[in-house]
Amino acid sequence: MAAAKTGRSSPRNAFYAQSGGVSAVINASACGVIETARAHRRQIGTVYAGRHGILGALHEDLIDTSRESAAVIRALRHTPGGAFGSARYKLASLERNRAEYVRLIEVFRAHDIGYFFYNGGNDSMDTAQKVSEIGRSMGYPLTCIGIPKTVDNDLPITDCSPGFGSAAKYVAISTREAALDIASMARTSTKVFVLEVMGRHAGWIAAAGGLAGRSSADAPHVILFPEIAFDRDKFLAKVKATVERRGYCVIVVSEGVRDAAGRFLAEAGTKDAFGHAQLGGVGPLIAEMTRSALGLKFHWAVADYLQRSARHIVSAVDVEQAYAVGKAAVEFALAGKDAVLPVIVRRSSSPYRWTIGEAPLGAIANKEKKVPRSFITADGFGITAACRRYLAPLIEGEDYPPYRGGLPDYVEIKGAPVRKRLNKPFVL
Ligand code: F6P
Repeated sequence: MAAAKTGRSSPRNAFYAQSGGVSAVINASACGVIETARAHRRQIGTVYAGRHGILGALHEDLIDTSRESAAVIRALRHTPGGAFGSARYKLASLERNRAEYVRLIEVFRAHDIGYFFYNGGNDSMDTAQKVSEIGRSMGYPLTCIGIPKTVDNDLPITDCSPGFGSAAKYVAISTREAALDIASMARTSTKVFVLEVMGRHAGWIAAAGGLAGRSSADAPHVILFPEIAFDRDKFLAKVKATVERRGYCVIVVSEGVRDAAGRFLAEAGTKDAFGHAQLGGVGPLIAEMTRSALGLKFHWAVADYLQRSARHIVSAVDVEQAYAVGKAAVEFALAGKDAVLPVIVRRSSSPYRWTIGEAPLGAIANKEKKVPRSFITADGFGITAACRRYLAPLIEGEDYPPYRGGLPDYVEIKGAPVRKRLNKPFVL
């Protein structure tokens, strides 16, 4: 492996940050980064983590991961959430707020940080790319490597995004289980069950609900994708026909479903730092529609954070891939690569084989991969065999956390702060 970039005797430190919505396996990536860096102590000094992502760098609020035991770092692999704290924070453009970038570099310089690992989705890859450009333009040598993550599975180039397989598995399992519940009661009680799932602009998680059924007769009978404009009449006709034929209807609806004019059916009215609308509530809205138009008794559930934090039922493939991209990110940095990220490359679906590839940050930044039309059935309400072939391996295998007292034994980091060197507060 290459020696530290500047050729000096003591190795430069690394900065790792989690960004955006977390997942059940993002800490497995952190584990991959830290364990791999620890295995290369001669090339990488200490890994500092940003408390609450990039905000930790701006506020010089760094966590010294060398103060965490090997057992704690290992346990991150089976602990959901973002152990170091994540943030939805968009760095302004360089022209509008140069101070933020100057501050980042000041903090990195003060702590001799030579490696920047940013674990996030498409917005975060944009940030990582900007930081790489700033480092270069300010003459500060900084290796910037992205680490892919998003339950939404909307990153281009990579075959899938770590975090997605586990959310997909949770949704597929929940759909199958709730379908058994409604099937047993439908004759005298509930006729419609609606499960609302995440996926702001892409219906990958909703599509995963389709894995619950083995044939088109099985639940879910209706999947509503953001990729297909919502048609009220067509939807109600499908629900009515399904209830007449099967006695009940199970619906999986993506939070990002839009009408023909492109408006979200359910917008909560708030926006995040990137200008994305906060979504939620389409499940009850759809359910109520079936009651008012068809007179059907319903139940609904919003999977919300449950689907992206459900570590107890993760996909073993997902955990492995999340760890692998963290490990590969460090290996890329050691190999002298910059402004790239590791991606998952599918070699075959059956048997499922994958390897790690490489992509430039710019190819991922701010781009979204939607569910292709060929993955959605002609009527717009289901998944095709091709979609099933793509999704099925991603939810394979179980990787249960250890349990204590009947509950998963998740770890909490000490989170020891790194002594501030600048002693200059930063006002955002
Ligand atoms: O990170 C992706 C995501 O999980 C989306 O599917 C969802 O719309 C969004 O995050 C929710 O974000 P937040 O937790 O910031 O409200």
